[in-house]
Amino acid sequence: MTSEQIRQKFFDFFEKRGHKIVSSSSLIPDDPSVLLTTAGMQQFKKYYIGELNASKDFGSQRTVSIQKCFRTSDIEEVGDNTHLTFFEMLGNFSFGPIVPSADGDNPKDFGTSGYFKRVAIFWAYEFVTEVLEINSERITVSIFGGDSEKIENSVPFDEQSYNIWHKEMGLPKDKIICGKREDNFWGPTGDEGPCGPTTEIYVDGIEIWNLVFNEYYREKNGRLRKAENPGIDTGMGFERLTAVLQGVDDVFETDIFKDFVFKINEFIPGGERKIVKILADHLKASIFLTADGIRPSNKEAGYILRRLLRRILAYSVKCDIHADLFPESVDFMKAKFSRFYPELNNAKTILAVLEEERLKFQEAIGKGLKEMKKYDEIGVKEAFYLYETFGLPFELIKELARQKVKNLNKGEFEKEFAKEFEGHQEISRAGAEKKFGGHGLVLNTGELKAVNEEEMKKVIRFHTATHLLQWSLREVLGKDVRQTGSDINAERLRFDFSFNRKMTAEEIKKVEDLANEKINENLPVYFKEMSKSDAEKIGALAFFKAKYPDVVKVYFIGAEEKGNLISAEFCGGPHINNTSEIGKFKILKEEAVAAGIRRIRAIIE
Ligand code: ALA
Repeated sequence: MTSEQIRQKFFDFFEKRGHKIVSSSSLIPDDPSVLLTTAGMQQFKKYYIGELNASKDFGSQRTVSIQKCFRTSDIEEVGDNTHLTFFEMLGNFSFGPIVPSADGDNPKDFGTSGYFKRVAIFWAYEFVTEVLEINSERITVSIFGGDSEKIENSVPFDEQSYNIWHKEMGLPKDKIICGKREDNFWGPTGDEGPCGPTTEIYVDGIEIWNLVFNEYYREKNGRLRKAENPGIDTGMGFERLTAVLQGVDDVFETDIFKDFVFKINEFIPGGERKIVKILADHLKASIFLTADGIRPSNKEAGYILRRLLRRILAYSVKCDIHADLFPESVDFMKAKFSRFYPELNNAKTILAVLEEERLKFQEAIGKGLKEMKKYDEIGVKEAFYLYETFGLPFELIKELARQKVKNLNKGEFEKEFAKEFEGHQEISRAGAEKKFGGHGLVLNTGELKAVNEEEMKKVIRFHTATHLLQWSLREVLGKDVRQTGSDINAERLRFDFSFNRKMTAEEIKKVEDLANEKINENLPVYFKEMSKSDAEKIGALAFFKAKYPDVVKVYFIGAEEKGNLISAEFCGGPHINNTSEIGKFKILKEEAVAAGIRRIRAIIE
């Protein structure tokens, strides 16, 4: 059976049973607590809770879709036979009240009202065994086995599903497995929403279909309450199902991927199969993400896209692929999938976005490699620094720095790096929560963050203090000192700079004193707009990570005509008007972040 036949049969089957065919929603969800669309039910969340009325919008309480999904959780597994970041999911859904026909939740009811467990299980089984013609001998299922009653929000054993499978569908007891919370309870997506116990259908031990019984609603505070109207949400991974039906054990061998994998292989003759699969997955995913309007950036969904693209480019370097993989991949995806996803017709724009990122990355790689050469040894901190500052993906760091990486063969390095990475994710998650917490950030330049006016005032004082600190460090430690990073909130400033050793206590004191001296001199702080070349001529310091336009703002501390000009930096602001507004400057800590990179934390009193 071809994958296109599978699409058609799925729609036909459920359309005949009263479901309205609904197009896939975008990979950018309308729920701000979720970064990307991970499941078919997401676009229907409001119908489950009755905020929107499905009968009114779709003419039915039943819908069916094939949804574009993206899951980051699997990114490290990609390259094996079953994991993908981007995939499609077949699903049928039911919302709203169940109107009981003569004998209740009835699979012969081809109408448009809500249905529940019995109907969902009957139809899934019928579709699998009769339409897809999978022999029932190959099928096993799992159901929710129930929580201990002692835990909070406990959910009981799903006896009804057990009885339907065993007594009505005739599945022997040993083919019905009872699962725990982590395996047989699904949802919600984001921080609240419909969720409930599940039953999963397996073919030859491979999970193909997840049927979720949305009997509950999880509130933001974690409390589970019974849903007013129970709903149905099912999801069947299209690529995995196709593999099962085409008799292959690798999703990349299905007709969804085969030709694309072949094409990529042409670029890397004899290339490692795992890498070819990673490239196939990431290229497809990036193209779909870009088609939905996501652009590479350093945060949220844009960051995910950037990460995928940089992994593609890193593997290209690693495998010595000199050709550009993007143009042919975009053409391929358009030819194969634009019939189902018309947004892929925007091939020109999609390609332009990918190419721009390619150029940026090449520049970053050059800088990153130069930086890497400075190190004798690369430990976790250095690797993470290269990763974060230059966007060099871990695989590439490992590959290019083989001799320099410590503990390369112990696997420990990777574990440690993952830990470091997770810590970083925690931080960005916390940042994201703040943003979505209803307050909103009044100031967020990436470097400066404040949630209200009061915080903003403090943050701006810290910002000027940062310029003063850089000047003072260069006075005391020499002109090789350069900013490599900065992060400011209302509590403290954090400043990273290039320097080869630990600072002595005297040096720290000197830097602090010097900064305070300039604060007490009441120096003016102001900016001038000038051309980039003029700014460079006067020796204004530029933070190398940033990219500057032709006309730039340069912030000064002190006045040339008075002979007390001390600092000139490329900077977008904002700053205070006079150093006296800073208050007393105090360094709390000086520490290493990576080889050759130090970090200072300071406060103002
Ligand atoms: N929403 C369920 C899932 O994604 C069906 O598995």
